Amino acid sequence: MKGFPAVLENISDLSLIQIKALLSLTSDYKKKDKDLVESFYTGFRTPVIATSFLENSTRTKHSFAIAIQKLGGMYIDFNADTSSLKKGETLEETLLTLHHQGVDCCIIRTSVSNELAQFKENPPLKIINGGDGSNQHPTQALLDLFTMIGDLGDLNGKTMAIIGDCVHSRVTHSLVELLPQFGMKLILCGPEGYIPNSSESDSITHTDNRDEAIKQSDCIYLLRIQKERHQGTEDKHFATYHEKFGVSLDTLGKLDKEVFVYHPGPANIGVEISEDLIHSPLYRGYKQVENSTYMRMAIITAILTNRNISSQLELNGDDAKIKTGPKAL
Ligand code: NCD
Repeated sequence: MKGFPAVLENISDLSLIQIKALLSLTSDYKKKDKDLVESFYTGFRTPVIATSFLENSTRTKHSFAIAIQKLGGMYIDFNADTSSLKKGETLEETLLTLHHQGVDCCIIRTSVSNELAQFKENPPLKIINGGDGSNQHPTQALLDLFTMIGDLGDLNGKTMAIIGDCVHSRVTHSLVELLPQFGMKLILCGPEGYIPNSSESDSITHTDNRDEAIKQSDCIYLLRIQKERHQGTEDKHFATYHEKFGVSLDTLGKLDKEVFVYHPGPANIGVEISEDLIHSPLYRGYKQVENSTYMRMAIITAILTNRNISSQLELNGDDAKIKTGPKAL
């Protein structure tokens, strides 16, 4: 895909045209999916793609692993816990090492917000942000967008309440950058300390009233409390959270709202969501998981097949002159 960034860190790295192209490619992959591995890559060799998850993950890492293998790429699970990162090596050194081993792209999850920005100027290899601290989770937001369009059609003029720990949620930070581009209005809802201080806009409003937020919404997005990112002060809400901000079939029934409920997972049943809601047809979390593979196939394809980007590192390297075929990087 033309001009696709070599480092996909934020939603703002992508143009609206690129986002729409990703949606269309995701849809193609979803239609074409067979259990057979199909090689997508028309270049001169099979791409080698690694995941390096420095924070826990079930959904994101596995869906990338499946996406890579469905595309016919070679998948390397780079285990950070047993790597030289534990011996004090910097992330940059590690990535340069992976590059020289022939890895074309690395999907990185880190607990450090903005850690990947340092690689944008001169990327050691292609990088996809698999979630960085509380900063961004662009691939999750993109697969959410794809799922919502599939469920609701045109999002223009529709409203979604994001209920939960918005301030610590990298998913929210990406959704806030992405969904208003499709005309969606967002209501960020949660107790004090869970909603960003940043100013509201035409597209984004804040409230601490769950029922009011749901009443105004065409769909809702629930978030777990990101306990691992709290400094202690926000913990006072845990005990009363379900009653005030949790959502169940009863909550929706009383408000006469039969709306789709999204969740990036992992869900904490009995806290932000009830058992009956998560097992009801209104819950779209499993659809998000299903679509995640196709969106990640599209993102990997886009980042690898961009012939416009050539790494400075490759061009400056000793072997630059003898490379003739299309470059993976
Ligand atoms: C999210 C994450 O890691 O940011 N999960 C995910 O990637 N599916 C949300 C979360 O951890 O709460």
